[in-house]
Amino acid sequence: MDELQTRKDTALMAIAAADTQDALEALRVEALGKQGWISQLLKTLGKMTPEQRQEQAPAIQQARAEVADAIVVRKQALDNAELDRRLATETLDLSLPAPDAPRGSVHPVSQVMDELAEIFADLGFAVKTGPEIEDDWHNFTALNMDENHPARAMHDTFYFPDKDGEGRSMLLRTHTSPVQIRTMVNEGAPVRIIAPGRVYRSDSDATHTPMFHQVEGLVIDKDIHLGHLKWTLETFLKAFFEREDIVLRLRPSYFPFTEPSVEVDVGFAVEKGRRVLGGSGDAPGHAWMELLGSGMVNRRVIEFAGLDPDEWQGFAFGVGVDRLAMLKYGMDDLRAFFDGDIRWLQHYGFSPYDQPTLSAGVGASA
Ligand code: PHE
Repeated sequence: MDELQTRKDTALMAIAAADTQDALEALRVEALGKQGWISQLLKTLGKMTPEQRQEQAPAIQQARAEVADAIVVRKQALDNAELDRRLATETLDLSLPAPDAPRGSVHPVSQVMDELAEIFADLGFAVKTGPEIEDDWHNFTALNMDENHPARAMHDTFYFPDKDGEGRSMLLRTHTSPVQIRTMVNEGAPVRIIAPGRVYRSDSDATHTPMFHQVEGLVIDKDIHLGHLKWTLETFLKAFFEREDIVLRLRPSYFPFTEPSVEVDVGFAVEKGRRVLGGSGDAPGHAWMELLGSGMVNRRVIEFAGLDPDEWQGFAFGVGVDRLAMLKYGMDDLRAFFDGDIRWLQHYGFSPYDQPTLSAGVGASA
């Protein structure tokens, strides 16, 4: 058995000295592979008499175990050395551009609201918000629509079982005009605000959805007149549509909360199947399109809000945000705004990095 001892020692020494994984693997095959010398010795055990086997087996098994263990130990050592080498030599290049992270997009309604806030901020307007669940007084009564006012019918909305302090049903606001009242009541005069937000009516077809968006504008001060309203709307629409040739037509109208009331139309032409704003609606190939409602704030509304109408007056307007978005960016079905279809959002969605600014242009580049 001295021969076995010698071969084993030789193998163990070689294993301990192996300096690559390949060399170690070759030594493993040489000893423990199918044709390896230890495997061959193990095979001879089968042909021995039980006595011979009993005598020789332990040494052979022992040699196999020692060689196998030595290989595991050496392999681990080589692995560690390899890792140390890589840690010492490989570096991470932080100057490489990071892989593109998936990014969301801004909804056209949010985009347009941001654009409006930017334009009106430049004109000195603050942004106000109010609750979407309103009480009857703020949504109707204080806006000069008392309980039996026929204009309430045009504002059919969703009512809650919950009642306000006077026993009237709470409701989803039908317009952003209640924010006029809330601002005057809370902050007094003067006022110069816009109020963007969601509003609700029980309407549903290609151009009406039960929920849509408006922006209210309100200016209350001393000596405010219709000229201020006209100038403000013209300035806003030119900035928003990024066109100097926007022409407005002011038409007498009726809203309970304004007197006089003015419907504002804007001239447009149809180019390649798309409505393009600009030019007088009376020019050849042009027409007028109704864009928004406005007027001088009714004295009664100023009184309801706790201010003296002989001292303060002003103008207000309300415009559909979704409608503005459709006109500016060319969507043709309002319902798609609220379908949440990812393909539509990707088509019309804007970059979250595209902050509307007056200097860089309030239009989205996407
Ligand atoms: N609140 C009106 C509407 O929703 C719009 C409007 C606002 C009209 C302010 C005049 C003044 O139709």
